[in-house]
Amino acid sequence: MSNVPRTRWSDQPRRSAVQKILDAIQAGESAAVGSLPVPEHYRGITVHADEVEMFDGLAAKDKDPRRSLHLDEVATPELGPGEALVAVMASAINYNTVWTSIFEPVSTFKFLERYGKVSPLAKRHDLPYHVVGSDLAGVVLRTGPGVHNWKPGDEVVAHCLSVELEGPDGHDDTMMDSEQRIWGFETNFGGLAELALVKSNQLMPKPAHLTWEEAASPGLVNSTAYRQLVSRNGAAMKQGDVVLIWGASGGLGSYATQFALNGGAIPVCVVSSQEKADIARKMGAELVIDRSAEGYRFWKDEHTQDPREWQRFGAKIRELTGGEDPDIVFEHPGRETFGASVYVARRGGTIVTCASTSGFLHQYDNRYLWMNLKRVIGSHFANYRESWEANRLIDKGLVHPTLSKTYPLAETGQAALDVHRNAHSGKVGVLCLAPEEGLGVRDQAKRERHLSAINRFRGV
Ligand SMILES: NC(=O)c1ccc[n+]([C@@H]2O[C@H](COP(=O)([O-])OP(=O)(O)OC[C@H]3O[C@@H](n4cnc5c(N)ncnc54)[C@H](OP(=O)(O)O)[C@@H]3O)[C@@H](O)[C@H]2O)c1
Repeated sequence: MSNVPRTRWSDQPRRSAVQKILDAIQAGESAAVGSLPVPEHYRGITVHADEVEMFDGLAAKDKDPRRSLHLDEVATPELGPGEALVAVMASAINYNTVWTSIFEPVSTFKFLERYGKVSPLAKRHDLPYHVVGSDLAGVVLRTGPGVHNWKPGDEVVAHCLSVELEGPDGHDDTMMDSEQRIWGFETNFGGLAELALVKSNQLMPKPAHLTWEEAASPGLVNSTAYRQLVSRNGAAMKQGDVVLIWGASGGLGSYATQFALNGGAIPVCVVSSQEKADIARKMGAELVIDRSAEGYRFWKDEHTQDPREWQRFGAKIRELTGGEDPDIVFEHPGRETFGASVYVARRGGTIVTCASTSGFLHQYDNRYLWMNLKRVIGSHFANYRESWEANRLIDKGLVHPTLSKTYPLAETGQAALDVHRNAHSGKVGVLCLAPEEGLGVRDQAKRERHLSAINRFRGV
């Protein structure tokens, strides 16, 4: 098998194998895929190792994912023990694909190279191309030796935690495994493709009332927000907590808002437009701050923050809550907001962070942290159990997908650009094998009960 992305060979064998798989799934006979041949090649969205310097000298905002994300035909990887090969019907854009596509903060080929040193099996991932994507909804095609809980034909979604668990560290909480990785970001053969390779302990049942693209969209952000806000590994939110949620209509924030509302907490949603404020209200939030309309400038210049702006922001929160400060601040914008987040958290409150979109060198006034006994908690993705619990909430119709728009696989670059430019709301979906939107619903009655909530973000 070649390691080089293929675009020059005859496309016919791939097309015909893929079409047979698709026909079986479309006919509602997913179990039949177990006896159909697996294509030797498949189409997937890649970045190329020989292009990692293509954006050198440009500011991050000017780096265009449409130039670096390619639709290539690549070799189907060999299936190893404990793994599953999945026919991907739909996937979604996560911010990690934006990072991969602009080669920031580092090129993901460094991750693949490091992973390749772990074992001969892991070496398969170390290639001159990287098939990206950390979400999927699809059908199991094959399982490797030692997989007993899943079989060909199972309709699934996949969470993106990849662990080896050969050492002791991860046996209390798998996120602590010394070989913990994010599938499709720090490993190859990700979900923005016709096929994907996952470990079987990434698989979870696809909620039967959702379409392929709806089922694929909560995955990464839903699990992350669940651990960050709800789990005892994160902020362990309880009823009555005031929760300040940055980017409340974005990927993470749209799930954090739903968790806060479901859990009896009081979300204070921060967004940047009237349209996004409306969508936060549609989810049921009553306290919403439009940061653009308020014009906060937490930084006077590149090096100096403005504590008066923190105070003005804190006063706005108190005005909305009747004088209360946040028990929890749900952080991810990072450098631009972190000083304000530490300032506005209540005495004894928690700032829980999983990202640094605007810059990872944070500055805050430590007097407000220690004198007021606040805590900063770092949180990253979620373990299998937490991901399962988050997916179960989707399955039960207690939390809903926040899909706003869906692109075909060939337009993934544009989809990633939308997210890079913050021109989207909720989640942006991508159709992989699914020929159109709206397919894959197996429980229509349940869908009808939740239809308006499922469609809240559509077209926003
Ligand atoms: N550690 C993990 O496991 C993990 C998991 C998922 C995501 N992440 C990271 O978390 C970050 C957010 O991911 P996402 O999927 O939620 O992205 P997203 O869909 O782009 O949503 C982020 C939201 O944050 C707000 N925002 C962006 N820049 C801001 C700024 N400078 N100040 C205030 N608000 C700002 C925006 O909302 P408004 O413009 O409406 O305010 C935006 O909608 C990314 O950096 C991503 O890589 C980490």
